[in-house]
Amino acid sequence: MKVMRLADSSNTPRLVEAILPDPIPGPGQVVVRVSAAGITPTELEWYPTTHDAAGGPRTGAVPSHEFAGTVAALGPDVHDFTLGQAVFGMNDWFAQGALAELCVTEPSSIAPAPITLTPTQAASVPIGALTAWQGLFEHGHLHPGDRVLVHGAAGAVGHFVVQIAHLHGAHVIATASAANFSLVRQLGADEIIDYHSRRFEDVVQQPVDIVFDTVGGDTLLRSLPLVKTGRFAVTIAADKESSEDPRVQHAFFIVKPSQRQLMEIAALIDTGKLRTCVAGVVPFTRAEEAYTGRVAYRTGHGKLIVAVSPAAVI
Ligand SMILES: NC(=O)c1ccc[n+]([C@@H]2O[C@H](COP(=O)([O-])OP(=O)(O)OC[C@H]3O[C@@H](n4cnc5c(N)ncnc54)[C@H](OP(=O)(O)O)[C@@H]3O)[C@@H](O)[C@H]2O)c1
Repeated sequence: MKVMRLADSSNTPRLVEAILPDPIPGPGQVVVRVSAAGITPTELEWYPTTHDAAGGPRTGAVPSHEFAGTVAALGPDVHDFTLGQAVFGMNDWFAQGALAELCVTEPSSIAPAPITLTPTQAASVPIGALTAWQGLFEHGHLHPGDRVLVHGAAGAVGHFVVQIAHLHGAHVIATASAANFSLVRQLGADEIIDYHSRRFEDVVQQPVDIVFDTVGGDTLLRSLPLVKTGRFAVTIAADKESSEDPRVQHAFFIVKPSQRQLMEIAALIDTGKLRTCVAGVVPFTRAEEAYTGRVAYRTGHGKLIVAVSPAAVI
């Protein structure tokens, strides 16, 4: 199979095309023929990209761990999916990723793809929507009526946070650039703060129940005094992972696969309650540009997607 993998000889992360043997599913595994893969730009520097699960150096990592495609092969004991079925989901960060014609995952990490989305759109959902879901419900303990402050509301994760919080009856306060106000308002934000021209802590007058930080830097630290006693701050920002500040350690989490949550998310999408944004589609051979920020394919909000199958278009 064709893959895009890290060229380990380079000091800066570079992707090169390579041919690897087709994976054969073991017990409890599913092989997905990837149509489209979602890009998280910071992933090339993440720990699981550069280290193996035992802590040793990792070489030749195939990045992107969210995808949409069809079931190509099933492990001997896997009965809950059928060959050719359209699926979407994630796989393990330490496993070879989805910038590959075939990708190994587990049944519990995938679900039937939303029937109203193209594979390109479906590939934009898993990490953003699962991160939003887990941050709001598992880490933020969201209740209807909560006041939720979302930093990075127009981003690939943030646009799901705004929608899911709004759907759950929260009062959503969002930070975004002025150019993104219209989108963020349509998604359900009640108040929007332009972080370029105002300090959000000067605008938010009453305490909030949840801060959902997708930005990093000092954004989380400046938000902590706004959180009601006994309620929650969550952050997913990559630069917070290694922080020694106990408040940040408490707030940080990493998204996990969940079939049940993917099915709930797909149902919301197929009933028109939740939407996804695709910022642009990058051809497989130019996947590296999706990570470098030099990409010329970004035309909108949300995730950049790599078309692993040439047939994958928006
Ligand atoms: N821990 C996890 O499990 C996990 C999962 C997914 C992603 N992540 C990480 O989460 C971060 C966000 O990911 P993403 O995919 O959502 O990124 P993204 O699509 O690039 O969105 C980032 C957003 O941040 C906004 N922004 C930048 N500076 C800001 C500021 N000072 N205040 C408020 N908003 C600001 C931008 O808003 P405007 O466009 O409106 O200016 C942009 O829309 C990344 O570091 C990523 O690696 C972590």
